[in-house]
Amino acid sequence: MKLCVALDLPSKEENLELLESLKDVEGVWIKVGLRSFIRDGSTFLEEIKAVNPLFKVFLDLKLYDIPNTMGDSAESIAMLNVDMLTIHASSGKEAMLEVMERLKTIPNPPLVMAVTALTSFNKESFFEIYHTGLETQVLEFAKMAKECGVNGVVCSCSESLMIKEQLGDDFLTLTPAIRPFGENSGDQKRVATLQDAKEAKSDFIVVGRPIYEAENPKRVAEAILQNL
Ligand code: C5P
Repeated sequence: MKLCVALDLPSKEENLELLESLKDVEGVWIKVGLRSFIRDGSTFLEEIKAVNPLFKVFLDLKLYDIPNTMGDSAESIAMLNVDMLTIHASSGKEAMLEVMERLKTIPNPPLVMAVTALTSFNKESFFEIYHTGLETQVLEFAKMAKECGVNGVVCSCSESLMIKEQLGDDFLTLTPAIRPFGENSGDQKRVATLQDAKEAKSDFIVVGRPIYEAENPKRVAEAILQNL
C-alpha cells in the first residue's frame, strides 16, 4: 500500500514547506489537486521534483467531459510526466476508452484511476443524484472502468474489498477519506482508518488534513508508513 499526501494548503509556499518536511520520507506519493494546480500551474510539478526527484506525483483533476476533450486533456496531463491521474467513471465508457487509447502513444503513461462515488457522499446524498444504491453503482462503475482498460478506481474503503473480490487484486483501488488514527472526518462521510484500509486491500491511501494540519506532518507520515 502506498501513501499519497494531499497538498491542499492555501498557498504554494505552505505546500512547499510541507514538501520540504516530507522530503526524506521514503516512498511518499504527492497528490496535487485542483486548488494547487489552478493557482500554481504545471510548473509547480517541476518544483515538487526539485525538492525530491523520487517523489511520485499524482495529479488529481478528476476529468469529466466529452470523450474528445477527455482524451485531449489526459494526453496533456501525461506530457507533464505525472505518475497518476484521475477521471470520472460517470463520464462513460466512450470517454474512458478514448483516454486509454490516447495514452497508448505516450511512453511511460501515468496510471489512470476512475472516480466512482466521491467519499463526501453518503448513501442518501448519492441516491439524490444517481437514484440507485451507492455500493451497486460503485461496483458497476468499477466494472465499466476495468472493461475500458483503466488501471483502477477511486472509492472508499467500504467498497474496496468488494471490488477486489469481484474484479481481482490487480485492479487497483485508491481510497481517500482516510483518518489514519481516527482523526476528525471534516466534510468526508465514508471515512476509514489505516486498519480498515489494510483490510480493504487498498493499493493507495490519500491523506490530507490529518497530515498537513498536524503539528509535525513528517512524524504523522512516518507513523502511517510504519503501520502500512
Ligand atoms: O483532507 P482529506 O484527507 O479529507 O483530503 C482528501 C483528499 O482526497 C482531497 O484532496 C480530496 O480532493 C481528495 N479526494 C477525495 N475523495 C475522492 C477523490 C479525491 O476526498 N473521491
